[in-house]
Amino acid sequence: MSNRKSKQILFAEAPEGMPDESTFALEEVDIPAPKSGEFIVRNIYMSVDPYMRGRMTTRKSYVPGFQLGKPLEGGAVGQVVESENDKFPEGSYVQSMLGWREMYLTNGEMVTPIDASVAPLSAFLGVLGMPGLTAYAGLNLICQPKEGETLFVSAASGAVGSVVCQLAKAKGVKVIGSAGSDDKIAWLKEEAGVDEAFNYKKTDNITETLGKLAPNGVDMYFDNVGSDHLDAALFHMNDFGRMALCGMIDQYNTTKPPGIHNIIMAVPRRLHIKGFIVSDHFDQLGPFISEVGPMVKSGQLKYEETVLDGVENAPQAFLGLFSGANKGKMLVKLGPDTAA
Ligand SMILES: NC(=O)c1ccc[n+]([C@@H]2O[C@H](COP(=O)([O-])OP(=O)(O)OC[C@H]3O[C@@H](n4cnc5c(N)ncnc54)[C@H](OP(=O)(O)O)[C@@H]3O)[C@@H](O)[C@H]2O)c1
Repeated sequence: MSNRKSKQILFAEAPEGMPDESTFALEEVDIPAPKSGEFIVRNIYMSVDPYMRGRMTTRKSYVPGFQLGKPLEGGAVGQVVESENDKFPEGSYVQSMLGWREMYLTNGEMVTPIDASVAPLSAFLGVLGMPGLTAYAGLNLICQPKEGETLFVSAASGAVGSVVCQLAKAKGVKVIGSAGSDDKIAWLKEEAGVDEAFNYKKTDNITETLGKLAPNGVDMYFDNVGSDHLDAALFHMNDFGRMALCGMIDQYNTTKPPGIHNIIMAVPRRLHIKGFIVSDHFDQLGPFISEVGPMVKSGQLKYEETVLDGVENAPQAFLGLFSGANKGKMLVKLGPDTAA
């Protein structure tokens, strides 16, 4: 086969505060023909995720930073288009961390086959992928929901939050969600079935609003936002409440993070507050797929995707996460979905 060409996005410049176009650069590279044991994958969808902002800094983190001048990385699903590797035959579908590029040559290291008959390919990056597993692990292992309790979820309509809300509802929990647009609030109430939801951009005081929606207090908080959402939750936590600190997107692009004022509530309320990272809970993958897979297949668990087209629009998709441009999982489609 003649050489193939692939466009990819490089990490061009480390951002101060909010990343912008100068953070990224587009280049086209040749993909050589595979040698024995190698194969070429054409990516179909790639994921953009808030955690990628953490890989654009020199701050010590749980994943190494992106390398300047090298392609960015992240979850992707694609199809093998040329193969000299029997384990990855031409036509089969795979998942990798080699997103932000249209195509790649690999020997199969860190590439896993996926069964495209189980769910739409895009779902492996969202509801049945890393964000779904994050929701499942954080909710079950840290929040430990019990029927009749109350849960507050921030960024509730997003990839992680929307799954948290619906898994908690399935366990008989009262769910209160916050999100940044009326459209998202309507989806949370009408589709995801949450009990209460509010648009935090239209609320002067999140603590007051949460107090009105949770007159009996909050037993669990799933934090995706931090800052004033976290403070509001701390203020309303009931005795022995549980807080799963999943992410604090409000702070990812700020050079001066705001203080948390209500942490003192952790003492009298005897709160269990735990940060977690999904990669510590890959042992939950089996139970997660067994439990959540059928809920997705039957339509019981609803999910939304916002899909931009073309690798050149991947930076825009990524930046959109910080302005709420996504409803549900933010994805970039890199080529025809042959599994659809
Ligand atoms: N711990 C882990 O292992 C792990 C794994 C995956 C994700 N996470 C974290 O989980 C959170 C959600 O991730 P996701 O992939 O599901 O993203 P997402 O919710 O699908 O997208 C991000 C959403 O955050 C909201 N947002 C952005 N800036 C905000 C701000 N300043 N204040 C309040 N809301 C803001 C926006 O929604 P609105 O329109 O509602 O503002 C945006 O749509 C993130 O904090 C992420 O870092 C953690």
